[in-house]
Amino acid sequence: MIFHDILVIGGGLAGLRAAIAAAENKAEVAIVSKLYPPRSHSGQAQGGINAALGNNPKAADDNPEKHGFDTVKGSDYLSDQEAPIYLTEQAPDAVFEIEHWGCPFSRTEDGKIAQRPFGGAGYPRTCYGTDKTGHYILQTLFEQTIKHNIKTYNEWVVIALAKDVDACCGVIALNMHTGELQAMGANAVIFATGGSGRMYGNSTNAIPSTAFGVAMPYWAGVPLKDMEFVQFHPTSLYPNNILMTEGCRGEGGYLINKEGDRFMSKYAPKAMELGPRDIVARSIQTEILEGRGFEDAYVYLDLRHLGKAKIMERLPGIREITLDFIGLDPIEEPIPIQPGTHYCMGGIDVNMDGASPLPGFYAAGECACVSVHGANRLGGNSLLETVVFGKRAGTSAAEYVKDKAKQPRDNALERALKREEENLNRLLKSNGNENPYTINAELRKLMPEKAGLFRNEKLMAEGLAQIKALKERFKKIRPIVSGGSFNFDKTWALEIKGNLEVAEAVLAGALARKESRGSHFRTDFSKRDDANFLKHTIASYTPEGPKLSYRDVQITKYQPVERKY
Ligand code: FUM
Repeated sequence: MIFHDILVIGGGLAGLRAAIAAAENKAEVAIVSKLYPPRSHSGQAQGGINAALGNNPKAADDNPEKHGFDTVKGSDYLSDQEAPIYLTEQAPDAVFEIEHWGCPFSRTEDGKIAQRPFGGAGYPRTCYGTDKTGHYILQTLFEQTIKHNIKTYNEWVVIALAKDVDACCGVIALNMHTGELQAMGANAVIFATGGSGRMYGNSTNAIPSTAFGVAMPYWAGVPLKDMEFVQFHPTSLYPNNILMTEGCRGEGGYLINKEGDRFMSKYAPKAMELGPRDIVARSIQTEILEGRGFEDAYVYLDLRHLGKAKIMERLPGIREITLDFIGLDPIEEPIPIQPGTHYCMGGIDVNMDGASPLPGFYAAGECACVSVHGANRLGGNSLLETVVFGKRAGTSAAEYVKDKAKQPRDNALERALKREEENLNRLLKSNGNENPYTINAELRKLMPEKAGLFRNEKLMAEGLAQIKALKERFKKIRPIVSGGSFNFDKTWALEIKGNLEVAEAVLAGALARKESRGSHFRTDFSKRDDANFLKHTIASYTPEGPKLSYRDVQITKYQPVERKY
């Protein structure tokens, strides 16, 4: 039976950094990834990674404390403050480490790491490599896994956790090359499966970024935290929602409505286009809803005044994307954009060590909720979270496995394998006639409508009922061809099941939170309500639907005040 002391599930930035940390701490570790790691969605992060380095002349008096405060304020005071404070204190070292590993950051004239302004930040502190920062960091970390001889199981899809009485003891995975199910034993498992954005139709996320990675531990009894907080990136390309980095506005890009106005002056007069994402996204959507958008669907992101040289130097990827996908050159024309679902602030309930309530089970990166971003994440803090909390999860897991026997728990793994074979067979042999892809398409259509930028009781209750109906229909899907290598029909059935389950948790949490905070904006409860909702939503799986409970938010240094930008 396959056994590794630690198994990291996911080959994006959080997974790679966790695996490197485990190896640095002398643990024996392997990565299981449904993609070849350099193809992970982390590679699509564009604009940068935050750290208070003070390299930009306008940031001479920046420091980690100010970065910490901006992050807490940005979170609408829902983050557990120890987490953003740790994140921002660690940020400079985390960035220097990547730099020393060879990441090709853009440079200032005097050779320091270049930094640009990003939304909701008091200073220009987003370190960047043109507009391909995630791609560069991903290659850099992947090289380190090779240096550490870390084994990777590429194109293996984990489909379930394996548990013994007292702890997580591995996973069950589908080897896509052979089509076989395989039990993989481990003393600790770290999930770093990324975001769940593809529950939504209007997502900036890559196609593999489904909610299945979050659903697996949820089904295994690990709770989810704050799932109702889903971030809408203000600027995704119309009509396909590819990310147009916040770096466009950081470099000076304008948002313009049909009347030719820089409308952000109404909504965030000081910060303008560099307000936090929740506010800028809602402002754009308000312009569109009130008839000041183009074709009732988009506004313009105008870069023309930046000039050809700056666009070619700082935003070459944006130009490539707009040329390739809509035949538009941003040097000559403004870019049509609209808000797009971008990031899940909520996720698997873990502490600062990445440890979940299930011993031996850890999570890091977007699939996890530490909680550092609270109700709204600042741009540039996601790449930072992957390396800071990925490292911490890998280090903690290495400590946890130190005294454990280096052998698989055969009985528990065999039981889990048998259970998953039966589950999978039941799913594949289902003799209904529902098309799972139609169900997924219906889900992805309803999510932006019912759990979108503007929410209310009626919409969310309808959405929840629709999801319940889709879950019933999913029980009657058409048979799926079993076996064969690279049988994506089989894995997609599971990914779609995961999407349905987690989408239900998003809507249930949102419906119960009768206030507006960060990304969660309700037209029927338009104010933040600290008296009743300064708390985390905890969703536990039951076959009937999520069971919700609440946990206090940790407020240490910064008392909640009204956010103004
Ligand atoms: O806009 C961007 O480049 C995205 C960055 C982020 O989500 O942190």
